[in-house]
Amino acid sequence: MRRLLQISDVHFGRPHRPEIAAGVLRLIAQREPDLVVVAGDLTQRAKPREFAQVRQWIDSMAVPTLAVPGNHDVPMYRFWERLFSPYGAYRKHFSANLEPVIEDDELFVIGINSAFNWTVQGGRVTPRRIRNLERQLAAAPEGKTIVAVVHHDLIPPPRFGSQQVAVNAASLVRVLASGGVRLVLSGHEHQSYCALAESYYPGVGASMVVAHSGTMTSDRGRGCERDRNTGFWIEIDAGWVRLVTLEWDRDRGEFRERLSHEFPAIEP
Ligand SMILES: [Fe+2]
Ligand SMILES: [Fe+2]
Repeated sequence: MRRLLQISDVHFGRPHRPEIAAGVLRLIAQREPDLVVVAGDLTQRAKPREFAQVRQWIDSMAVPTLAVPGNHDVPMYRFWERLFSPYGAYRKHFSANLEPVIEDDELFVIGINSAFNWTVQGGRVTPRRIRNLERQLAAAPEGKTIVAVVHHDLIPPPRFGSQQVAVNAASLVRVLASGGVRLVLSGHEHQSYCALAESYYPGVGASMVVAHSGTMTSDRGRGCERDRNTGFWIEIDAGWVRLVTLEWDRDRGEFRERLSHEFPAIEP
């Protein structure tokens, strides 16, 4: 059994809510997850100071962590930096590795970068990276649950409006599903949602669950999660997956469990 905390869109900078970030640290100290996944949009404006703050916050978690960039982690207004070194500040002040991999006795977790230099809001995963993932998954260790972490959503939440899923999402989903990925963890939409990939991409098989968490620590909740802060508590045991929405309770100053979704293990 492995227990993960999935958080996203922490947006250090103006929309960040420090009191909720402190609540996340208390939650981690109480529950001691095996891994904390931070699914992108670590900052609001990709500023060195924001990256340094989020680095310090994540380093204080005292459990294994894995983070990937989001569209907000590429400079929006610093034109030359955006053109020639879109991940320069991320690499210098947060992590040199944009696509980390972490592994233990039960899990194999792969980070995927879906941000790019001209992003305003949307994301993409390049065909080259998708081919590379195919090889990465073919070499994945036997018998472990494979988890992929990517900021942009690969399936749209209900009431999605005119927004697009990540460019090349369909090919990425097919490669991940056929490569044995059980769980995809995303963010970006600032509203939580989970479903089988099969429900949006018929034919990919019913084994891959996609979960996007809401914004864990910013005031930018959207849609049905406006003014709300959510993440997922995840339990994985021999292919069985349980996702529990955690929501910040302002009155009590702590996260509380709200909804639970269970996905039974798939028979081989
Ligand atoms: Fe975001
Ligand atoms: Fe985003």
